[in-house]
Amino acid sequence: MTHDESTPAIETSGLVKTFGSTRAVDGLDLTVPAGSVYGVLGPNGAGKTTAVRMLATLLRPDAGQAHVFGLDVVRQADAVRGLVSLTGQYASVDEDMTGAENLVLLGRLLGYRKPAARARSAQLLEAFGLTDAADRQVKNYSGGMRRRLDIAASILNTPRLLFLDEPTTGLDPRSRNQVWDIVRAVVAHGTTVLLTTQYLDEADHLAARIAVIDAGRVIAEGTPGELKSSVGAGTVHLRLRDAGQRPEAERVLARVLNSPVQLGADPVSLAARVTGQGTEREMDRGAAEQAARALSELAAAGIVVDDFSLGQPSLDEVFLALTGPAKSEAAA
Ligand SMILES: Nc1ncnc2c1ncn2[C@@H]1O[C@H](COP(=O)(O)OP(=O)(O)O)[C@@H](O)[C@H]1O
Ligand SMILES: [Mg+2]
Repeated sequence: MTHDESTPAIETSGLVKTFGSTRAVDGLDLTVPAGSVYGVLGPNGAGKTTAVRMLATLLRPDAGQAHVFGLDVVRQADAVRGLVSLTGQYASVDEDMTGAENLVLLGRLLGYRKPAARARSAQLLEAFGLTDAADRQVKNYSGGMRRRLDIAASILNTPRLLFLDEPTTGLDPRSRNQVWDIVRAVVAHGTTVLLTTQYLDEADHLAARIAVIDAGRVIAEGTPGELKSSVGAGTVHLRLRDAGQRPEAERVLARVLNSPVQLGADPVSLAARVTGQGTEREMDRGAAEQAARALSELAAAGIVVDDFSLGQPSLDEVFLALTGPAKSEAAA
């Protein structure tokens, strides 16, 4: 057969796609192990959708190679299509039909007989919390319900590999959590998921490994822990009672955290990166300890802190850390 346990779900080398003078994907090298969620993290325009469309056989690469479970996406495109499913902005759900009608129709197109298509549809609607909405037209669904129906439609046939292209962009936190639960359930059933996202915390929650892409290339790759150790464990954000104490607070933070302090536009706010060391667990603990020490030294200096938070680095901070002066070679 075409694959065994050790065959990667996806393997690309030097993959390229240009549109006119835009190199949307510019020499992409990816290896996605089977059986888990792989996160592709990048800002708008990084080339995520273009890469996914080539892997799903919807676009022909201009150069390079891509294999899905060992099958060439160009020369063995039909076989690849039998193994993959794509959801995102290209899902083929009909707005004027109900949720149930959509799933039954897609099931019929996939070759299910009518009773089997109905049964599978009912099962998926139930699993995705859409039973009550089954007979409502999709155009009346909320964004979160629509996204869940898209994913349900794409796993009607339990694909070996599911592409989820920014499945939570624009969703409220509750709907986002529902989609995350679905992703976990899909992977627990043995499907490999390639998830694109603009949110580091999403990749961190779901993905076993993450590739950070920028301008069509991989600029960093690893486990969430490895990525965070190259970027720093997080950022502390502070609000002071008294704006007059900010210069002193800035000195204390710079000394304790040993990193540059950013002054917010608001005269009482400051932020600084916390760089923990070691494993992901050690790093998170180290970051919390450093943040606690910063707070106690601020208190010792008589500085009143009204609000304090320790958050994960944002995608912007990840990019700054990965493409900043110290790592300019990687970005070049
Ligand atoms: N069909 C197309 N025609 C022309 N340019 C395109 C087309 N699709 C994508 N692009 C360009 O390619 C780059 C990557 O786009 P895309 O793959 O959609 O990025 P992402 O999904 O990461 O936001 C962008 O500069 C985008 O404008
Ligand atoms: Mg996109």
